[in-house]
Amino acid sequence: MPRIVAVANQKGGVGKTTTAVNLAAALALSGRNVLLADLDPQANATSGVGVDNPAHTVYDCLFKDVPAAKAIAPTSVARLDLLPSGADLAGAELELADLDHRETHVRRVLSPVAGRYDVVLMDCPPALGLLTVNALTAAGSVLIPVQCEYYAMEGLGRLIATIERVGGLNPVLSIEGILLTMWDARPTLSRQVSEEVKKFFPDKVYQSVIPRNVALAEAPGYGRPGVLYNAMSRGARAYMEFAREFSAHEQKSAG
Ligand SMILES: Nc1ncnc2c1ncn2[C@@H]1O[C@H](COP(=O)(O)OP(=O)(O)O)[C@@H](O)[C@H]1O
Ligand SMILES: [Mg+2]
Repeated sequence: MPRIVAVANQKGGVGKTTTAVNLAAALALSGRNVLLADLDPQANATSGVGVDNPAHTVYDCLFKDVPAAKAIAPTSVARLDLLPSGADLAGAELELADLDHRETHVRRVLSPVAGRYDVVLMDCPPALGLLTVNALTAAGSVLIPVQCEYYAMEGLGRLIATIERVGGLNPVLSIEGILLTMWDARPTLSRQVSEEVKKFFPDKVYQSVIPRNVALAEAPGYGRPGVLYNAMSRGARAYMEFAREFSAHEQKSAG
């Protein structure tokens, strides 16, 4: 059974895509077969793993009967495959709204291929619309990146309410964990955010935190995950350590 995880937070710029791309690459480097599914019309995860002008995108799978197996592209990282996104996905929110079973189409697209992978990571758009709801419906759990900034907690209540609402369609959905990102810009603020998040989610915050690190921000410009672009950078090492913690949880919950 693959572990299917939605990386979600309706705030933009909190590190969803950076986390999805680097966790996916780190897990692939450690020997897992990983599918990264890009569900954001901005397609930052797609370009972030170096895929340009894919023949098909997840849009074609959702609305044009293209099987996921045909749309999935290999990446420059061994064992890491990508289900690409593209600008056409921007219309998906409205088109999904007109379909029957509008919350379950991503699950329909992924289910024939998910079994080929150990882990499927879905990078969600910065909204709680139908694409994110579809990701939550397809997922076993949600990984929530939280940026160590002012108003970090803002909107988390609505995200949790959405997760609970989706629970009607997907009773197994749980919170995988909360990852603090961009730590250190203001150490005092970062510590405050950490304490506040831990107060609300006592057992859900990962020990690993991701520092603000320029190599992580530069890497997408080279179409490479940060963990490969500069493996010795603090950011890369933090994501490698986080991937170990993520994998350890899996063993615990499976055991
Ligand atoms: N730990 C980090 N250190 C420095 N820059 C980061 C870090 N995480 C993300 N970024 C940068 O911040 C911006 C937003 O991150 P991104 O992962 O795209 O967020 P989201 O997907 O939530 O919108 C991007 O330009 C990204 O390169
Ligand atoms: Mg993103």
